[in-house]
Amino acid sequence: MNNFDFQNPTKIIFGKGEIEKITNEIPEGAKVLMLFGGGSIKKNGVYEQVSKALSNFEVIEFGGIPANPEYQVLMEALNIIKTENITFLLAVGGGSVIDGTKFLASAALYKGDEPWDILTKNIRTFEGMPFGTVLTLPATGSEMNSGAVITRAETKEKFAMGGPGLFPQFSILDPEVVKSIPKRQIANGLADSFTHVLEQYMTYSVDAKLQDRFAESILQTIIEIAPTMLKDEFDYKAASNFMWSCTMALNGLIQKGVPNDWAIHAIGHELTALYGIDHARTLAIITESHYTVNLEDKKEKLAQYAERVWNVTEGTLEEKAKAGIEKTTAFFKSLGIDTKLSDYTEDYNGTAQEISKRFTERGWKGIGEKGKVTPEMVEQIVEMSY
Ligand code: NZQ
Ligand code: ZN
Repeated sequence: MNNFDFQNPTKIIFGKGEIEKITNEIPEGAKVLMLFGGGSIKKNGVYEQVSKALSNFEVIEFGGIPANPEYQVLMEALNIIKTENITFLLAVGGGSVIDGTKFLASAALYKGDEPWDILTKNIRTFEGMPFGTVLTLPATGSEMNSGAVITRAETKEKFAMGGPGLFPQFSILDPEVVKSIPKRQIANGLADSFTHVLEQYMTYSVDAKLQDRFAESILQTIIEIAPTMLKDEFDYKAASNFMWSCTMALNGLIQKGVPNDWAIHAIGHELTALYGIDHARTLAIITESHYTVNLEDKKEKLAQYAERVWNVTEGTLEEKAKAGIEKTTAFFKSLGIDTKLSDYTEDYNGTAQEISKRFTERGWKGIGEKGKVTPEMVEQIVEMSY
């Protein structure tokens, strides 16, 4: 096992009816900016619950943060934070609203002239404005981690940011919110959380037995609940397990002491930036070809995954590894998610070259757990996913 530090300061408040507890978590006398997305919270009762819980505070609302939170929209919110002397941020939404809020928490205290530099110059945030979240869409794990991904439509770019100053102070996880989520977004949440686990697991063994079994147990739980989550009837028990699995998949725990990959996400973000494809779907497009191109480096772990998660018992190590890749693609398809770029756009010619060029220009000589996935290999991976 590799050396590691682990600290996660986010308080989780989990369960039915817990949104009202926001009241106890926000500092007395705070001036709150409540941030939300395109309006789903006004249709499913979440807005009323949050407003009631905030009745003792001075609150300004900022709605309209789009999926793949957009820099220009966030800059309007930043202006409000500054002119209204806001002291606390409350994100009510999915990964996009929470990530947008993290950007604002960072930008509000940033000393430089151009907040976009936080993203392009990889400036880590050690101190941010305090914020909490009410999660409405299980998927990203953003409610209990310190990362965010921000989009700039103008330049078709999407960059990650983060730092120890960007953990939410608290996050309310009420599985009842899952009731109103469209099936397409449920499928996205299942695929995104599944891939988060894979990114931290499908590397090479460092004999971290507990981390491996944590990862495998999250994968097995997601596989087990997926069919129930995609049914029309709402199932609170499945929704609870779904929500907690998504959080545990990316709250830092399973990535400690083990190598991490994240190449699928790095390439996937480019597909969202270029074509607006849902984040989770970009991962489903890239996973198979990434594992195929990097089979040699990942085959022990792929075979272990095939055996322990999918009960593949027959075949050589290499055959089991390939079966693991096939099972993963079949799982994405079982969620109703297409796994080829051509399923999403007709305009895919040249995508591989464009992404490879962008990585070269950014000086990303090699990504993945060993830093061995060069821009040339990225080109091959994307081409294979057409
Ligand atoms: O905007 P509203 O009207 O609220 O509708 C949203 C949005 O259209 C809707 N929705 C959310 N909760 C709902 C609901 N509809 C009905 N009922 C509810 N309870 O769902 C749509 C998608 O929301 P969004 O927040 O965009 O989805 P998700 O949580 O999947 O977030 C995706 C973003 O997170 C980033 C992605 O790149 C993408 O930008 N990620 C963030 C990560 C992190 N911070 O750790 C890691 C991930 O890998 C990911 O990159
Ligand atoms: Zn993701």
